[in-house]
Amino acid sequence: MIGVLVSGEGTNLQALLREELPVVAVAASSEAVPALARARAREIPTAAFELERFDGRLERDRAMAAWLLERAVELVVLAGFMQILTPTFLEQFPGRAVNVHPSLLPQFPGLRAVERALAAGVSETGATVHLVDEGVDSGRVLAQGRVPIVAGESAHTLHRRIKRVEHRLLPVVVRLLVRDLVPA
Ligand code: GRF
Repeated sequence: MIGVLVSGEGTNLQALLREELPVVAVAASSEAVPALARARAREIPTAAFELERFDGRLERDRAMAAWLLERAVELVVLAGFMQILTPTFLEQFPGRAVNVHPSLLPQFPGLRAVERALAAGVSETGATVHLVDEGVDSGRVLAQGRVPIVAGESAHTLHRRIKRVEHRLLPVVVRLLVRDLVPA
C-alpha cells in the first residue's frame, strides 16, 4: 500500500493514479496544496500536516508517520514534497521511501534545481527517482531520464519537459518497489 506526500500541483501523484497503483493515503505539507484535490476526486483519504501546527518537525513527522501507518502504508512516495523528513519518520519506512527530483542527481540537489541547471549552462538535465535518506536528495538513485536543454528556453518549459519524464519513470519504479523487485 502506497502513501504519497505532496506540496504542489500533484502531476506526479496523478501519474501514479493513472497507472492504478495502490495509493491509499495522500499527506500534504499544507491544506492549500492543489494536489489534495486530485486525491479527493478519487476518494483517497487525505490530511495536511502543517509544520506551524506542531511543536516542531519531529512532532509533525511522528503524527504523519502514525497517520500513514494507520492506513497500512508500506511504501512512501515523495511526489513533490518540499520539506525534509526527520530520521524518526524514515525509520518507520526503512528503504521504503522514494523521491522524484528534477535533475540528474548528484547534479543540482535541493531547491530550484531546474533554474540552477539553466543558469549553469549545462546542455542536458533530467529527472531522478531515488531512495530517500536523511540528506538532501542524496539517497541511492533508482532511475534517471535525460532531457536536453533547448537554447533560450525558460525554466517553466524545461520543467514541463522534465515532468513528462518524471511521469514515465516514477510509476515504473514504484511498481517495482511494490512488487519487491528492487534489490536492497
Ligand atoms: C517535480 O518536478 C518533482 O521532481 C519536484 O517537485 C515537482 C512536483 O511536481 N520534487 P508535481 O506536484 O508532481 O506536479
